[in-house]
Amino acid sequence: MTDVLARLRALQADDLPVHGGRTLAYVYDSGLPDIDRIGREAVASAAATNGLDPTAFPSLLRMENDLVGVGLRLLDAPDGAVGTVTSGGTESVLLAVQGARDSRPDVTGPVMVVPSTRHAAFDKAAHYFGVEKRVVPVGPGFRADVAATEAALDERVVLVVGSAPSYAHGVVDPIPQLAALASARGIRCHVDACIGGWVLPYAARLGRPVPPWTFAVDGVTSVSVDLHKYGYAPKGTSLLLHRTPELRRPQYFSSADWPGYTMLNSTMQSTKSGGPLAGAWAVVESLGDEGYLSLTRQVFEAVDLIVAGVASIPALSLVAPPDSSLVAFSTDSSCDAFTVCDEMLDRGWYVQPQMSYAGHGPSVHLSVSAGTRAHVDEFLAALASSVAAAQESGPIVVDPGIAAYIESLDPSSLTDDDFDGLLAASGLVGEGSGGELELPKRLAEVNAMLDLASPAMREALLVTFLDRLQRPRGVE
Ligand SMILES: Cc1ncc(COP(=O)(O)O)c(C=O)c1O
Repeated sequence: MTDVLARLRALQADDLPVHGGRTLAYVYDSGLPDIDRIGREAVASAAATNGLDPTAFPSLLRMENDLVGVGLRLLDAPDGAVGTVTSGGTESVLLAVQGARDSRPDVTGPVMVVPSTRHAAFDKAAHYFGVEKRVVPVGPGFRADVAATEAALDERVVLVVGSAPSYAHGVVDPIPQLAALASARGIRCHVDACIGGWVLPYAARLGRPVPPWTFAVDGVTSVSVDLHKYGYAPKGTSLLLHRTPELRRPQYFSSADWPGYTMLNSTMQSTKSGGPLAGAWAVVESLGDEGYLSLTRQVFEAVDLIVAGVASIPALSLVAPPDSSLVAFSTDSSCDAFTVCDEMLDRGWYVQPQMSYAGHGPSVHLSVSAGTRAHVDEFLAALASSVAAAQESGPIVVDPGIAAYIESLDPSSLTDDDFDGLLAASGLVGEGSGGELELPKRLAEVNAMLDLASPAMREALLVTFLDRLQRPRGVE
């Protein structure tokens, strides 16, 4: 028994660290070991409970209502507003889109209007639910273009979307204007605050300038906000909040049309562990308002120091001044952004590469959490030396033959042979690996290759890559 847990820990040795503030994407570290422990113990205590039937597990209903209540108060919701705990940001977004679609059965070919900077979860929702996505460009500061949004509205539009903030650039869209356009036409307006929703209200209380985006803005009909991000809860919880119960109603699914129990769900999952909900409840109850205020203070101290540090390195520039806790910077021609990411990883820091998109070059993303505050000096020293190392090693030049090969491929019909050809040409299948795909230690060259490809080609290549990774060994 203990042997298995030792093996589990051994497997985890290659994972990115989730504590210590050195992983600046995917995880959010409060830097408070007690909070982590409480979250973990709460998850474990409820892991086997089932949210399928909250009348069978009333503790789950109680904790869900408590969390939704905290979220609604934090986001200025009016009396009577409601919400649901979901499994994460993507599920909240999926349900916001599904609810908007199903609230308008009169519309054939429903459309959502999204800025080009929305999270890809909306693309997934479009794909799953057959809602057409109408993408409008952003203005110079990467914020949704209001005039372009207005021009995109017609009688088929069931949802207008804005972000608070956007993941890639960390800026808040002009929510009052977007919501006003939507509301004047009786269209729903969803604010995707999955990443910023738990941090921006506290930033405002600390006196930082925060553009309006909550339910205090007329016309905002729903908001998504993740507890497993800046709520510092264990993974597996987000809130989808609606201004009224009527707006939430199409989200429910029930089926009595089979011989078993009547299935009755408020989210996409049916059987679902109560663990994440209990973990989030325990963390939110433990931290309380003052706890979040203090963590947010640390986040913004770190953000300000990082912004100043980036400004002091001539090869780097901010992609946009951050409205929130996300920082994106780009590199000049003296230094490759993807190499900087690899160099940072060599120094024990994970920063996330972002590919070229819509005429803008590659950049580096940081989700700054409170746990990073105590180590910012180290972070900035690692960044300076990573930039120097990247300058020293020079630009990544993708072999023109490989570039031409990628160019010749058709993403809509990429075959296994095409992919194998690319792997062989790029040396990604190592000598002696028996043809088995291995994760390269340094990714700059792979990223540079992907950066040359169109978004559709990146998708096709990465899907094939993941499909290859997800094969149990020894099963033919
Ligand atoms: C703005 C925004 N929306 C949605 C999501 C999706 O959240 P998740 O990864 O929890 O599904 C994210 C994740 O980073 C996000 O930043």
